[in-house]
Amino acid sequence: MELELSQFYRVMAPRTTIIVTTVNRKGEINAAPFSFTMPVSVNPPLLALASVPTHHTYHNLQETGEFVVNLPGEGILDQLWITSESFPAGVNELEKAHLTPKESLIVKAPAIKECAAQLECKVVMDRECGDHQLVVGEVVRATALEESLLEGLLDVEKTKPLLHLGGKDFVVGDHRKRVE
Ligand SMILES: Cc1cc2nc3c(=O)[nH]c(=O)nc-3n(C[C@H](O)[C@H](O)[C@H](O)COP(=O)(O)O)c2cc1C
Repeated sequence: MELELSQFYRVMAPRTTIIVTTVNRKGEINAAPFSFTMPVSVNPPLLALASVPTHHTYHNLQETGEFVVNLPGEGILDQLWITSESFPAGVNELEKAHLTPKESLIVKAPAIKECAAQLECKVVMDRECGDHQLVVGEVVRATALEESLLEGLLDVEKTKPLLHLGGKDFVVGDHRKRVE
């Protein structure tokens, strides 16, 4: 069957879902999930994400040039969903979702304690790309919970990373899960 061209990304799924934490110039924390994201270079270590330009996340990236990529597991699907809600600028979604900020070492934005891994990043490229901004970040520090790894790889059975299918639907383990 033919698909609507605007729906092409629905079949590029399920997608790794991250929660991006940033701060604005005043130091106010923001958090939001992203699934248009991928690693793009090993040396130097670079990753990319695509953000709608009106998102507070993008605004903060422009202001500070820093962000943290947090890799969530099944345990915090409901909290992740809360961080995706459209709150006014300056509202701390981590507080709204009862997630715990953890101080980063290199960037000002905090990481999320409940996540399996945290990647502190500095923006090295920001380019308009259709209706999104393509932002490339250099990973300046990477951490993971020891119990989230197995032989140097993500322990998927334990962590159950959240993979976005579309809308309220995710893939967790080998099944489809809809946010209530
Ligand atoms: C699972 C999931 C994945 C998302 N992925 C993206 C994405 O890759 N790019 C984007 O611009 N918005 C994405 N969104 C939407 C934003 O997270 C949402 O609009 C959020 O309110 C933006 O918050 P902010 O304005 O605080 O940055 C996604 C939402 C969900 C639930």
